[in-house]
Amino acid sequence: MNKLKSLFMILLAISGLQAQPTVKQVYLDKNQPMEVRVKDALSRMTLEEKVALCHAQSKFSSHGVPRLGIPELWMSDGPHGVRMEIMWDSWDHAGWTNDSCTAFPALTCLAATWNPEMSHLYGKAIGEEARYRRKDVLLGPGVNIYRTPLNGRNFEYMGEDPYLASRMVVPYIKGVQENGVAACVKHYVLNNQEKWRGHIDVELSDRALYEIYLPAFEAAVTEAGVWTIMGSYNKVRGQHACENNLTLMKILKGEWNFDGCVITDWGGAHNTKDAALNGQDIEMGTGTNGFSANKKNAYDNYFLADPYLQMLRSGEIPVSNVDEKASRVLRLIFRTAMNQDKPFGALCNQEHSEVGRAVSEQGIVLLKNSTKLLPIDGSRYKTIAVIGENATRSLTEGGGSSELKPKYEISPLQGLIEKFGADKIKYAMGYGSGAPAYDQVKSSPYNADSLRKAAIELASKSDLVIYVGGLNKNTHQDCEGNDRLSYDLPFGQNELISELQKVNKNIVLVMLSGNAYAMPWLSQATTLVQAWYGGSEAGNAIANILSGNVNPSGKLPFTFGEKLSDYGAHSFGTIAYPGDETKEEYREDILVGYRWFDTKKINPQFPFGYGLSYTTFEYGKISADKKEYSADDTIQLSFTLKNTGSRDGAEVVQVYASEPNASVVRPTKELKAFKKVFLKAGESTIVGLSVKVKDLAYFDENSHTWHIDPSTFVLSNASSSTDIVSSVKIKVK
Ligand code: BGC
Repeated sequence: MNKLKSLFMILLAISGLQAQPTVKQVYLDKNQPMEVRVKDALSRMTLEEKVALCHAQSKFSSHGVPRLGIPELWMSDGPHGVRMEIMWDSWDHAGWTNDSCTAFPALTCLAATWNPEMSHLYGKAIGEEARYRRKDVLLGPGVNIYRTPLNGRNFEYMGEDPYLASRMVVPYIKGVQENGVAACVKHYVLNNQEKWRGHIDVELSDRALYEIYLPAFEAAVTEAGVWTIMGSYNKVRGQHACENNLTLMKILKGEWNFDGCVITDWGGAHNTKDAALNGQDIEMGTGTNGFSANKKNAYDNYFLADPYLQMLRSGEIPVSNVDEKASRVLRLIFRTAMNQDKPFGALCNQEHSEVGRAVSEQGIVLLKNSTKLLPIDGSRYKTIAVIGENATRSLTEGGGSSELKPKYEISPLQGLIEKFGADKIKYAMGYGSGAPAYDQVKSSPYNADSLRKAAIELASKSDLVIYVGGLNKNTHQDCEGNDRLSYDLPFGQNELISELQKVNKNIVLVMLSGNAYAMPWLSQATTLVQAWYGGSEAGNAIANILSGNVNPSGKLPFTFGEKLSDYGAHSFGTIAYPGDETKEEYREDILVGYRWFDTKKINPQFPFGYGLSYTTFEYGKISADKKEYSADDTIQLSFTLKNTGSRDGAEVVQVYASEPNASVVRPTKELKAFKKVFLKAGESTIVGLSVKVKDLAYFDENSHTWHIDPSTFVLSNASSSTDIVSSVKIKVK
């Protein structure tokens, strides 16, 4: 009988008449609408499976639903390259040999390009690397606003201006997500310092929140459609940011209608009920700070694991709560891990190197060139001294979670040797900083005096000195986990630079950092280049700029103050920075960065938006298409721009707006438009820029809406926030 049955089954199978499953797995069908798929998958899941989606299963992954063929999610830092593989249960490197990446320039450098097209190329390239490495979520980019130059993580962010950061973050995210990889915009929100980042409770006005700290996140959500966002470690008005009713429920998921996942920063969850009810979707990194003992396989104890399950079972939290979270995670999985249309990605290819180099070149800022030492004509010098530890040091290693294992990294010294020849160049370290170390200081094994003496001797007998210094990725420098302890350059560099200036007048200072710093030697310096952290191609980019193969076109994405006390955050005592250990008040309010310097009439060392070129540009007078506008209008502005020098080059033209008779306090001026314009030598063009009238509004705390006064506004074209060329007045009805 059995034999007969089997024969019948085989015949059925061959004839194709086999019984089809009666319930179609709609969630597997990519042609079905996303919400139909999500609903279908959810309807098949047990409560335990839904809860499992809401927390980590390893250091960098979270659960799928194996029974239904729904894969897990794999995440990786971000934001400057795809990080090396990390162990399942600890922060240790996994020691793979196939996890190298292209190191792209730091986000401050990207912001300094003022070129959204570069940002798209960057996002696309890093997204391809993430995809190739089989990551579903790239933990970046970061858009916390530059409030104090002491913040150890400023190098991972996009500067002090909400408009610039917004315009730059949107294309990055789109570029990443084109690969079927989610970007994770971070750290939401008000994580503007590393000191006490785990508990500091930020108090600020609604205006400062909405006008300064939220816009880049809002653009990421509403314009770029980012699929995930990372809650930050700090508190906001008394509640941790990863389980914050105001920022997650009211603003992100309410006002902005975010349909993606809120992922905690690693260890950012604190309490099951708040996490459940206040918008957290995926809990990562709890109880594993990487330093103290790590309870292995503790994932079931996560706030959004067993304790959450118990509360759902007992009815303390309604099942609709986990349905909502699980739906978000499913949506994310369908968009990424289960996205059947995503490309295959690519790793460490020529194209990615070129993107990295182009971003670095376009981001390098020429700050001073008063004796025209730059561009360097190599044939004029017999001997060139390259001095400074940053000329040879890896600056992709260290720095915290943004650390990278690049396939290669061209140091400035290598780039300069390649450009000017090994026979001309001699190197002296000048100072030593010690090994890059996270959360501890490992001092240099070298004798500081001998390093200094050797450098001075070399400088005194060389025709030209190229000094390559700045900050680095050690703790208390540009590094996660701590803030800088001082505004000065570290490791005795101020003294060293002054001594070098005494023995040689031809010194090109090249500074690598993600932060501003004091420049006590500036009056004696003729030539200064701010070169950020350039990633794999750093050395080639620097050499191309110094030699004039590429004309500098970067502009500062934040103000370089002369001293720390010039900054708003440092003008109100410790309560405004770093806080009193518990609480911090942003007393400078909306006057962050150049808004503060302008309004308080403080001269910066170098202003926001500043940067020179090897050519010169002449601006024409700005004009507007009309005299009077209503609230829904867009103002069309135009002016001529001419490259009046003898080299091709690019200028970042900027438009600032001010409202002289405002009914509330407003900054003296605010950036409202910009464009990077490439012009051949002698060429001129008419630059057109537009500003929406609604972008001239301020946030009205009483009505909780954006408000625009019927009043006169002044719109100015400028080459930096302090170099205003001309202005036009317009009226808003
Ligand atoms: C950082 C995040 C990072 C995460 C995972 C945290 O300490 O703040 O930016 O993405 O670790 O490495």
